[in-house]
Formats: sequence, structure tokens, C-alpha cells
Amino acid sequence: MDTTPTLINITRATVSKIGSVDFENLTFGNVFTDHMLACEYSNGAWQAPVIKPYEPFMIDPSAKVFHYGQAIFEGMKAYKDEHDDVWLFRPDENYDRFNKSAARLAMPEVPENIFIGGLKALLNIEREWVKKGKGNSLYIRPFMIATGSGVIAAPSTQYRFMIILSPARSYYSGEVKVIIAEHYSRAANGGIGAAKAAGNYSAQFYPTKLANEQGFQQIIWTDDATHTRLEEAGTMNVFFRINDTLYTAPTSERILDGVTRKSIIELAARENIPVEVRPVLVSEIVAAAENGTLKEIFGAGTAAVINPICGFSYKGKYYELPVSEDTFAAELKEKLTNIQYKLAEDTFGWTV
Ligand code: COI
Repeated sequence: MDTTPTLINITRATVSKIGSVDFENLTFGNVFTDHMLACEYSNGAWQAPVIKPYEPFMIDPSAKVFHYGQAIFEGMKAYKDEHDDVWLFRPDENYDRFNKSAARLAMPEVPENIFIGGLKALLNIEREWVKKGKGNSLYIRPFMIATGSGVIAAPSTQYRFMIILSPARSYYSGEVKVIIAEHYSRAANGGIGAAKAAGNYSAQFYPTKLANEQGFQQIIWTDDATHTRLEEAGTMNVFFRINDTLYTAPTSERILDGVTRKSIIELAARENIPVEVRPVLVSEIVAAAENGTLKEIFGAGTAAVINPICGFSYKGKYYELPVSEDTFAAELKEKLTNIQYKLAEDTFGWTV
């Protein structure tokens, strides 16, 4: 693949903020590095990308992103190994998904040399911000917004692609309990659920706020038509362990094709952990919780990595999951992060 950056105009920050950052106590997504990448799309073409100091920018109040939510993003991470080399995990997957999201939102595709080539150039400048040691990473947020002005409800003709970087530790700071959705939906067939569109996230904020008020951190979304099938958790895909088999829903028009999700499926197969990708019924999970065969539920995503879920609520009843040291979640997280941090051989060829 041609990831050679097009000529990137680089303006360096005169002073770095890095000295003021407490890398041990990071809240997810609040601190950003010294530089960002920006690239404008106008007159039917992408212009030369620039890397410049991280700063706010001006945008017309009538820009379509504000009125019609024409906005997409990706979530990726960079990791540093023991030799100070910086690694990306399956960046081609994020790149492909970004352009699928762009197509679904009637936005222009971003060329590989701008997305991947630009990201590598930006990371090269920000290497210091990628800290060594498991648990440390640099979260990468590529995104695209419609900057064209005018409130007519039609796709913009101008866009801005950007990459910003944020040093990260964990996404969830404590235990994660979930509610299984009975009324609200995240996505519907024919909709934009499979795209990483900004609107998919804002649409979850209100029901998630209601869940938070009841002491739950997340919602496991169910299919919009019948609310009988378990789909994903909005910030993560979900896996269920009944006895010694893992189950996860197939991707669809309603479910995000998660990179961590697909990596876990491949890793589990390599480790001889049975995984079945098939519709997972709410009723079977409730029955398994009641008869003691439901051993684990965990979420999987770039930001969340692999996050155990300690219990779920359905129709007003709370089901606590067993506490165990010996979980598939822990085993798979260890194997996955060993690959990401180059502590184990990457037999899949995932690291770049
Ligand atoms: C990610 O895991 O990278 C995501 O984009 C989820 C987001 C809610 C942080």
C-alpha cells in the first residue's frame, strides 16, 4: 500500500505541553499532544495536509456538521515497545472502515497517503507522547467534518479531515454494569449503525444518562425490531461466555465491525477457545445467568480494550456475574496486549 505522505507542511509548536502532563493519572480523552494534522477538501479534491500546533479553529456557524451531523471518526492506538519503537495495531482496518463510514455519510474518501501517511508523520513528531509500559498508549482520533456553509439539507462540498492524539490509560475507571435495552435503540436496519458516525454516539447519550442515574455505566443494545437479540454496547462490542464457549453477535447494518472484536475472534480460535459468531438472544443469556452457566460478559473496543462486565439488569432484575481470576477476558486481554506492546510474537502480522 502506498502510504508515502504527500508533501506535508509542518509547523512545530514552540513550546511543548508534555512537561505539565501527569501521565499516571489521565482521564480518558482530556489531554491532547502538541500537534495535529489537518487537511481540507475543496473543489472536489484533497489539498496538501498540514501538521501544526494543536489549536482551536474557525468554522462558519452554518457549516453542515452543526446542522446535519455530517461527521465521522475512528479510534486507534499507538504503543511503545521496550526498544522505544512505536507501533500501530491493524491501521489498515481503521482506514478501510473510515472510508466505509465516509461513503455512508456521503463524504469523500480520504486517500491512504493522507490518512496513514499523515498519521505516521504526526506520530513521528509526537513519539515522546507514547509512553512505554502496558496500559499506556496514545489514543488516535482521526475524524472528518463537513465544513461547507449553508443550511440547505444536502451533503457539503467542503470537508476537513483531522487527526488529534491523546495519551491514554484506561477508558473505564471502575466496574462496568450494564442494562439490556428494552425500549431505546442505537441503530436500525438501513441506518448508519455500522458507520462510525458521530450521530451514533450522541443518540446514545440520553438513554445512557438514564442508565447512569440507575447506577449502570453502559447499555447493551438490542435489535430495534424485537429487542430480543443482544448487539453491542455502543463504546464496545460484546462477548458472552456460556460454559466454555464465547458468543458474539455477527456484524450487520446495525453493529460496528470492531477491530478489537475481530482480533479477539481470531485470537480465541488460535488459543482453542470455542467462539460462535451468531445472534445472541436476551432470553438465553438470562436463562444462563439463572442456571449458573453464564460465566462472563466482556466488552471489546480500541478505547476500552477488553473490559469485564460485572453484571446486567433486564426487566428490572439485576444479574450479578461470578467473580473469577481465571477468565477468558483476562487471558485474551493478556494475549492481545502482548502483541500490541511487542511482548509476544505477532504471528498474525497485525502490528505496523
Ligand atoms: C474507540 O474505542 O476507539 C471508540 O471510538 C469508542 C469511543 C466511544 C471512545
